[in-house]
Amino acid sequence: MDSFAKTVFSAIQPSGTITIGNYFGAIKNWVELQNKHNCIFALADLHTITVMQDPAKLKRNTLEAYALLLACGINVEKSLFFIQSHVNTHAQLSWILDCYTQFGELSRMTQFKDKSKKHVDNINCGLFSYPVLMVADILLYQADMVPIGLDQKQHLELTRTVAERFNFLYGETFKVPEAYIPKNGARIMSLQDPCKKMSKSDENLNSWVAILDSSDNIIKKFKRAVTDSESCVRYDESKPGISNLITIYSCATGKSFDEIEKEFDGVGYGIFKEAIGECIAENLSAVQHRFSEFIQDKSYLEKCYKESAERALCLSDKTLKNVIEKIGFVK
Ligand code: TRP
Repeated sequence: MDSFAKTVFSAIQPSGTITIGNYFGAIKNWVELQNKHNCIFALADLHTITVMQDPAKLKRNTLEAYALLLACGINVEKSLFFIQSHVNTHAQLSWILDCYTQFGELSRMTQFKDKSKKHVDNINCGLFSYPVLMVADILLYQADMVPIGLDQKQHLELTRTVAERFNFLYGETFKVPEAYIPKNGARIMSLQDPCKKMSKSDENLNSWVAILDSSDNIIKKFKRAVTDSESCVRYDESKPGISNLITIYSCATGKSFDEIEKEFDGVGYGIFKEAIGECIAENLSAVQHRFSEFIQDKSYLEKCYKESAERALCLSDKTLKNVIEKIGFVK
């Protein structure tokens, strides 16, 4: 690692299907960051139980997400990649930081407001303090940089506030992290309503593409993607449908918008939609192939997540011990 190497922390919830929105918006960036920085990645299973989970499904989703991220290129020789609940320091620091976060601050979190509208019968305390667990995740590793989607920006601002508050009260304890929001691909939109973010919880199954969807299905979904009534393949913010497709194609091929517009100059949307469907299907088939190998090798998966968890515990425990000392708990 060179002297520009930073500590990067990020996490994703293993709560089911992982879409190409997650892939192009987050995971692909993680894979690239591994080559330059000290990366620490987690599956945030503690976060998932803020909404009701079926135990058998949660277990299966967690193992599948682990295998899938390895298949996408997360490399445990370069990075730490662990399951959050395996590393006890997260829950411990989270409790402590609860006591340095104000009720009013958490009440203002837009994700809490949205989720409590959606889960009216289960507005539990964990859903409310969820951002503090995220604060703990990040601060435990003294992270410099946190790759996140726009929807997590407010939580990162809270992380900075809590870190600064604690440092002010007790002296330098936590590094104050920066958000890292990649320019391209940060927001892949729904294929059916391109003004909404692509989300696996969308009831319209044609609106999102899962990494593990079959090739036929992927091609079909792109064919059905909603665009406007014109037919010139050009990126234009006032035409969110075609612009979203161009963004996705650019993420998958590395080509610039200009290059894409030239490539499809004079052909209609139909041909472009077919090309993008085939391209994504091909892109993902390599990932799917690797996934099917990893998911069958449970002992390899276990070895990877156990070793990472041990190392993560070691690193995070230094921060936790320091916090405990500063607060005045008897060691
Ligand atoms: N809350 C994040 C999400 O739902 C996942 C997450 C948990 C996270 N802990 C984190 C992201 C720490 C970045 C850093 O997307």
